Amino acid sequence: MTPGRLKWIDTGALHPPPTIEIMSSYYQRHIFFCLNQRDNGQSSCADFPAQAAFDHCKKQVKAAGLAGPGQVRVNKAGCLDRCAGGPVAVVYPEAVWYSFVDNSDIDEIVESHLKNGQVVERLVLPADVGR
Ligand code: FES
Repeated sequence: MTPGRLKWIDTGALHPPPTIEIMSSYYQRHIFFCLNQRDNGQSSCADFPAQAAFDHCKKQVKAAGLAGPGQVRVNKAGCLDRCAGGPVAVVYPEAVWYSFVDNSDIDEIVESHLKNGQVVERLVLPADVGR
């Protein structure tokens, strides 16, 4: 199905038959970078090179020809409430959370996950890391 097009499913199981609207993902993968700076002095992703990582990711995704509908979108985000693991980014639809250090980590996320669908296990944020 073409990205962004609607698909209608008639389940026929109930009367009147309900229809369920399913929208296919406009992007194959979407990565969000927290760029938040907290004002209360607590750790924030903006205390780290989150903006530089975001900029680098956008550049690498574009250079790899991955940017655009049906492919990959790189977006800024506010606080994702996992500040203690910052800087953080999350990739959907897999909902894989990453913590990264430098541009080489971003390069690996782009090549392995965003391009080839392989999670970069060494960068995955532990499930118990929150604010
Ligand atoms: S400041 Fe980045 S997750 Fe909260």
